[in-house]
Amino acid sequence: MDAFIRFQHIKKSFDEKVIYTDLNLDIFKGETITIIGGSGTGKSVMLKLLLVLLRPDSGEIFFDGEDVLKIDEDQLIGVRKRVGMLFQGGALFDSMTVFDNVAYPLYEHFKDYSEEKIAKIVHEKLEVIGLPDTADMMPSDLSGGMKKRVALARAIATDPEVILYDEPTTGLDPTNTNRINDLILDLQKRFKVTSIVVTHDMASAFKVSDRLALLYDKKIELVGTKAEVERSTNEVVRKFISGQIGE
Ligand SMILES: Nc1ncnc2c1ncn2[C@@H]1O[C@H](COP(=O)(O)OP(=O)(O)OP(=O)(O)O)[C@@H](O)[C@H]1O
Ligand SMILES: [Mg+2]
Repeated sequence: MDAFIRFQHIKKSFDEKVIYTDLNLDIFKGETITIIGGSGTGKSVMLKLLLVLLRPDSGEIFFDGEDVLKIDEDQLIGVRKRVGMLFQGGALFDSMTVFDNVAYPLYEHFKDYSEEKIAKIVHEKLEVIGLPDTADMMPSDLSGGMKKRVALARAIATDPEVILYDEPTTGLDPTNTNRINDLILDLQKRFKVTSIVVTHDMASAFKVSDRLALLYDKKIELVGTKAEVERSTNEVVRKFISGQIGE
């Protein structure tokens, strides 16, 4: 099967700081792949490259057969419509209600939608994340875990085919961590989405992923199924799993 998303021979530096020397990763339709790696290794940058919020110095990034680095602005908007992102920190717009936060990408991308249609979608998504009665609240009324879930409702507002989760459980208590993990699994099962999860949290990684990829030494050091990663004798992988590298 051909990859749905492909990072191919990506090189990227910020000034003198080299982030990737030759990054390669194939992601298949319908899978959940988790990227693990130490702090500052370039996990978030990978997600930003896919959305072309940043550009690599060289290499190709394919999304459903198209190189997103070669397409024009209109086509890029088309790609971004198909991808939902839960940003690290999951920041909501503090001055907007929960409703307006979730509606935001709909106003952005579906200018022809009626108010009724937007309201219906917003309420549906708040239902999916288990916070149906929060539409009129302000972000400051919500706990950290609730904010993350509302940010997830916003990320799925446009029914994306791909969801990018950047540290979805970082800083959450076990209850909210479990809720988010269950939502990631549920969205994959119900809507057949393709997901890329970035996390430090190995327990979450093993719970939600079909495959894991370890970003180390400026490249993908290893990619495999959960079972393959568990059995791996790769020293870096072993250290990572046992928590000797990380944070
Ligand atoms: N826009 C930018 N301009 C300059 N440097 C950047 C930019 N974005 C990221 N970097 C640098 O690139 C490196 C990788 O950043 P990235 O955010 O991808 O790390 P990460 O693996 O997500 O780390 P963390 O686990 O702490 O979130 C870091 O050293 C970061 O400071
Ligand atoms: Mg990051």
